[in-house]
Amino acid sequence: MSVAVFLTPQHPDGVEVDPTRPQLLVTDQSATRGDGVFETLLYRHGRIREEEAHLRRLAGSATALDLPLPEASHWRAAMQLALGRFHESAGEGAEASIRLTASRGVPGESGTFWVLVSAVSRSAATAHGPSDGLRVVLLDRGYDAAAADRAPWLLAGAKTLSYAINMAAQRWAQSHDADDAIFVTSDGRVLEGPTSSVLIARRSATGEVTLLTPELETGILAGTTQAAAFEVAAAAGWKLGYGPLTPADLLAADGVWLVSSVRLAAAVTSIDGVSVPCDPELHRVLVEGLDAAL
Ligand SMILES: Cc1ncc(COP(=O)(O)O)c(C=O)c1O
Repeated sequence: MSVAVFLTPQHPDGVEVDPTRPQLLVTDQSATRGDGVFETLLYRHGRIREEEAHLRRLAGSATALDLPLPEASHWRAAMQLALGRFHESAGEGAEASIRLTASRGVPGESGTFWVLVSAVSRSAATAHGPSDGLRVVLLDRGYDAAAADRAPWLLAGAKTLSYAINMAAQRWAQSHDADDAIFVTSDGRVLEGPTSSVLIARRSATGEVTLLTPELETGILAGTTQAAAFEVAAAAGWKLGYGPLTPADLLAADGVWLVSSVRLAAAVTSIDGVSVPCDPELHRVLVEGLDAAL
């Protein structure tokens, strides 16, 4: 079940529309060019997870595209309106994804902005653990680690609506005996998954744990779940670090995860057909910590 709310000049705090009926014009540039930005947030345990971080990232993505955006207060109000209607149908405890979309809209007019709340179940979100983790393939992203700096028009690090490449990568993985993908630069740096951030953990001979993620300078999205996982790790006394990471680092790790807002932390158990371990204790700390942080 879904609830849709549009933010319009007449209804800046949102007005409900029927998500089962057409609502966009065929000339809307979200449809014709994928020209816009979005965010996906998790609503769980009665709270919107990392609301401010998502709104900040939405604003950052919009700035990168030179896209005027409604004020954060209007997005907050529209989310509350949509969640209120969602709960009337789905019940108070229901878990949901909240998608915020900002499109450049119809040429010559102001943008198109909407909130879509949809039910998710934890089993659908599939918290893959060390025994049923993800098989992942490494895929060449087709540019080197310095491209994001050199070519800002690539919009690296912005969460744009142009996700056709990301979806193609996941289809490629699924047609090659895998569940998901991890992008690697043409010069061999680990980036991110098509819809997730990458985390790895290393345990030293003395038992000290370090949690690492690729460096943002490569143009990956700054993940809200990665940031939350770092807080969990710091509270557990682990050390933290940012890349550069290579495929060899993934294969040598004591745990590799794909993390994102709805799925949270999914363990990776093979990379390009090679089994990788995922330390169950490290997995437990991460998953329980992320859940408690909600
Ligand atoms: C390309 C990409 N990287 C990383 C992430 C993870 O971001 P977050 O943890 O904020 O959901 C996503 C989420 O959809 C993504 O699409």
